Amino acid sequence: MRLIFIGPPGSGKGTQAKRLASLHGVPHISTGDMLRDAIDAGTELGREAAPIMAAGALVPDDLMIGIIRDRLSKADAGKGFILDGFPRTVVQAEKLDTIVGNGDHGLRVLQLLVPDEVIVKRIALRRSCPNCGAIYHLETAPPANDTLCDRDGAELTARPDDNETAVRKRLEAFHRQTLPVATFYKSQSKLREVDGVGPVDEVFERIEKSLN
Ligand code: AP5
Repeated sequence: MRLIFIGPPGSGKGTQAKRLASLHGVPHISTGDMLRDAIDAGTELGREAAPIMAAGALVPDDLMIGIIRDRLSKADAGKGFILDGFPRTVVQAEKLDTIVGNGDHGLRVLQLLVPDEVIVKRIALRRSCPNCGAIYHLETAPPANDTLCDRDGAELTARPDDNETAVRKRLEAFHRQTLPVATFYKSQSKLREVDGVGPVDEVFERIEKSLN
């Protein structure tokens, strides 16, 4: 499986990609998670990315392409991968073609369709585990124990870019810079569109069906 998830912020890419990756035994590669790890580790990349992410804008293409080139060269990606958050611009999509090899390389692209008004509600109540990355929603997917992670008991946190101003900026970046990526793959007949509204299990079933 070589799959790309495209969707607006909060559309459920991370939730669905984690589940699909563990079912199919391929790595879930989230550029957002990789950048947040770099910020936590205090690397040069992290220092450069932090203010850009906090403002809801996109990190420069050359940095992102370098990260993905390195990650896809690792042995575990040889058997397949699920990309979550990359490519986000047409330049990134074109470069990805050269990284995985031009032509028919089995790449499929899944676009989650979720209206902006649903996004804002989802993001406001999202919490995640700073240790294991598990994603919760205080209303639709709450942890069993107050605000602690079900897996490791860590205190759940809200992301710094999940405030209203940054979310509006992230949505604008999605419409302006990432929707053309969907068009890019549609013109190559690689794109499948899936309704991302509804319970997580139902959305997952739609995704599985669209891939068969
Ligand atoms: P990234 O981490 O990729 O963020 P994003 O695209 O904004 O997406 P999110 O992680 O916010 O949402 P999601 O779609 O994964 O939804 P989730 O499953 O969590 O990127 C962050 C930043 O990094 C970017 O803004 C940019 O600055 C930078 N960056 C990253 N990649 C880049 C690149 N390639 N180029 C340049 N810059 C880059 O779900 C959200 C919430 O909804 C959760 O609470 C969840 O529990 C809930 N939920 C999920 N599904 C459902 C459902 N069906 N019903 C109800 N609730 C649901």
